[in-house]
Amino acid sequence: MAKARIGIYGLGTMGSALALNLAEKGFATAVTNHEPEWIGPFMERASREGVAEALRPETGLAEFVAALETPRLILFMIPSGEPLDAMLDEIAPLLEPGDTVIDGGNADFRDTIRRAAMMHKKGLHFTGMGVSGGEAGARHGPSMMVGGSDESWQGLRPMLEAIAARHEDDPCVAHVGTDGAGHFVKTVHNGIEYADMQIIAELVGLMRHGMALSPAQIAARFAEWDRGPLRSYLVEITAKVLAARDSATGGPAVDAILDRAGQKGTGRWTVIEAVRLGQSATMIESAVAARSWSSEKATREAAEPVLGGDRAAVDLAPEQLEAAFLAARILDYAQGFRILAAAGAEFGWQLDLARIAEIWRAGCIIRADMLDDIAVAFRAGPPHGELILAPEFAELLREGIPALREVVAAAVAGGHAVPALSAGLGWFDTMRQGRGTADLIQAQRDFFGRHGYERVDGPGAHHGPWWDD
Ligand code: 6PG
Repeated sequence: MAKARIGIYGLGTMGSALALNLAEKGFATAVTNHEPEWIGPFMERASREGVAEALRPETGLAEFVAALETPRLILFMIPSGEPLDAMLDEIAPLLEPGDTVIDGGNADFRDTIRRAAMMHKKGLHFTGMGVSGGEAGARHGPSMMVGGSDESWQGLRPMLEAIAARHEDDPCVAHVGTDGAGHFVKTVHNGIEYADMQIIAELVGLMRHGMALSPAQIAARFAEWDRGPLRSYLVEITAKVLAARDSATGGPAVDAILDRAGQKGTGRWTVIEAVRLGQSATMIESAVAARSWSSEKATREAAEPVLGGDRAAVDLAPEQLEAAFLAARILDYAQGFRILAAAGAEFGWQLDLARIAEIWRAGCIIRADMLDDIAVAFRAGPPHGELILAPEFAELLREGIPALREVVAAAVAGGHAVPALSAGLGWFDTMRQGRGTADLIQAQRDFFGRHGYERVDGPGAHHGPWWDD
């Protein structure tokens, strides 16, 4: 039997979908799984979908490795923590110099850098690859952010380009940098995703509790917004989610869902890395915080009668909400790209921000029409590298910020929680002031700690006139 071009270890939701996608595109793919009993049902599915011929199921690890063409390409689709480390220890002795192991899970890019260095010592390549788009994306076209060596990329490229989502004819996959770059870019993608989801949740909350609109009415608005400049996957699915009914209650499906959000870590990693890089992605941070607070259900229930849970009515027009959403979304993406720019400089990856925007135009969760304009803006090179200073985005913000201001003001006055929307506005208002308020911070630091400060009228370190000595 002919050898397989690639092997996939891990037939969970994402691994199965990627294997079927590769098989459908005609690539001979070996598959295996930690629990061998998963292989049979997977192959039955592959037969139903008419792609079984290109698949080569193997139960033992040695047989799986032996089924591959050399240099081997082995994609692990398993949890990225300890299970992956254990598997790398197990598989490395079966491999030969020049082989590549790929981690397609959501990994901490620092672990990916460590694993790449460890595999490099054995003459092996280790590629961290961010895969976005959920199960449907993996099956029919994900967006993929690939790290690792150029050599591995050359081996993977034809297959990844064939299975990727396409924006017009452009495959949504790129080699974004070495070692952990792919996982880093995917992490920031998820940070942007968290904030966009939080913005949407805040706007839906305002419409529901401040404007007494039903989920079905809000669904209709989102469906309408999905035909304008906000067109995106998250807006599209929000319309569908809000329109859905719960089969048990007959009421809106969202009303049957407990208001406690989970998180697997990528949003938190984005915030931690942003702070480490001397950045602060406040909208993403607010979104992570909101998820954490959401899980404190018992405390919130106890607080409601003590602190008062009232929310006043707000009077906001659909156009105001739409314009505020667009402005907030620009600020969210701008904060995400700032982290990418800072990390590129820190880790020597030379991240191509325009190309990253391009590979996010289809397949991934944050795909949005706006990404096309973001790519154009980064190709042109915005002033100071800042998306908010690119002429077309500065213009959009000048138009949309008044609405964001009105929405945040109405929400705050009415007692509606809008942490991400207000964080975006706070950042915007800080960045548009040539002279801010940190003069006072410097004075205080000098007062209590003799830290010194710079003067407006010349260089050097100075102290203030606050001590007697
Ligand atoms: C994607 C998603 C996907 C997943 C994450 C987010 O790009 O396809 O981001 O990776 O949804 O696991 O998970 P949490 O919300 O649980 O952190």
